[in-house]
Amino acid sequence: MGFEADVRARLEVDAKEIIARYPRSRSALLPLLHLMQAEEGFVSPAGIELCAELLDLATAEVAAVATFYTMYKRRPNGEYSVGVCTNTLCAVLGGDQIFATLKEHLGIGHDETTEDGKVTLEHLECNAACDYAPVMMVNWEFFDDQTPQSATQLVDDLRAGREVHPTRGPRLCTFKQVSRVLAGFPDGLANEGPAAGPATLLGLVIARQQEQTDSDDPAPPGARRTSSADAGSGTGYGRDGGPSESDAPATTAQADPANETPVRDSEKGTDA
Ligand code: FES
Repeated sequence: MGFEADVRARLEVDAKEIIARYPRSRSALLPLLHLMQAEEGFVSPAGIELCAELLDLATAEVAAVATFYTMYKRRPNGEYSVGVCTNTLCAVLGGDQIFATLKEHLGIGHDETTEDGKVTLEHLECNAACDYAPVMMVNWEFFDDQTPQSATQLVDDLRAGREVHPTRGPRLCTFKQVSRVLAGFPDGLANEGPAAGPATLLGLVIARQQEQTDSDDPAPPGARRTSSADAGSGTGYGRDGGPSESDAPATTAQADPANETPVRDSEKGTDA
């Protein structure tokens, strides 16, 4: 069964705005699928039909995309998608234990939803936030350095409707609200909340401190340089205090003469 007439009319207005952003209408499929999720909390058969109709695609083409990406849900999703990273680093640092604890606590498995419709539990692949492992995400907002206890408290708070704040990023929104943002309708919260955390910025802080030290007190010949700014300036690990092979940018041929480009006969000069 398709959408009610008023819902369909509203979706069509938004869909036209999305489609107009692309030179080819079919490029709008991904945001349109998010738009369907923003309406229903998942991509229903009605959503697939509407996408196909608006983009002049076969329903099989739309379904193929909707079933490929895990961000698209094919059955009603909870208000909060609670993901536990169980990729290698998070898993060994406690992610597996957190997932097992939540599974037992909530009485649901991967991609299943609590009876109150609040929480859908899922395994997540690496979120590129390994410096905060083990990491969880709720509706794609980060919850860093989790434990089985903090994770249990988190889902209890979500189910009780208590206010929950991610470690980084803006305040928590519902799955439908986030889906609308992913469809391309910003909610104005992008700059809210902390961005990169201290662990991510540590390398930058150290590099800046070192750069300052180097400029205050230039290294003597032969001393190790840690700033790339002065690479090749004549103070390094190499012979005579010059740059070593690993200090300075070098062409492949310089680093490994075996890779030198052969000179064609026609390009060779004559010594005669
Ligand atoms: S392994 Fe979990 S964020 Fe990378």
